[in-house]
Amino acid sequence: MEELSATEAAAALGRLDVEHVRGCEKCRLHSGRTQTVFGVGHARAELVFVGEGPGADEDAQGEPFVGRAGQLLTRMIAAMTLTRDQVYICNIVKCRPPGNRTPSDDEMETCSPYLFRQLAILRPKVIVALGRPAAQTLLMTKTPITKLRGQFCDFPPPGLAHLRLPAARLMPTYHPAYLLRNPASKPEVWEDLQSVMRVLGLRVPPRR
Ligand code: URA
Repeated sequence: MEELSATEAAAALGRLDVEHVRGCEKCRLHSGRTQTVFGVGHARAELVFVGEGPGADEDAQGEPFVGRAGQLLTRMIAAMTLTRDQVYICNIVKCRPPGNRTPSDDEMETCSPYLFRQLAILRPKVIVALGRPAAQTLLMTKTPITKLRGQFCDFPPPGLAHLRLPAARLMPTYHPAYLLRNPASKPEVWEDLQSVMRVLGLRVPPRR
């Protein structure tokens, strides 16, 4: 897909949502949803965050990352000197898995073409994959998140080359829900986010 202006990209994202995602019944997750959760933010954001799937709050509000983990993500974005409006936030799966379980491999495989179409429109410079399911799906790997985190990877991986997606640098890091349970890992994630800031040309605040 050619480069679109922000207005054209917003319209293309809106069409993808309304014409394809909202009515999707390609996997079993559709039967438990209140609504699909497509994504929010700037349609030509340089930075895109990809999580796992909507939870109860996201399913109720139709917006990704608005619950407790989302509030932490919003603070992480603020620490990067950015706002939610300046980045784009979405998930691998667009419907809430029952009981907030991890989406299954086949659910992620069925839903990820929507994410790839979002990425083709957004053309971000950097993708931050939040947690194991996002990182492993986007990189087509089974490597554990503990090994992946902190190192930039090339996106798309060779296994997705046929999709001809625009190239981006991908930073795998821990999911904010994990950080709520394991606050001791916050410094590692902050290091990863600072690496992202450097690639985006953002000034990293001095240590206090
Ligand atoms: N966790 C996710 O992975 N995505 C959301 O949208 C909310 C919580």
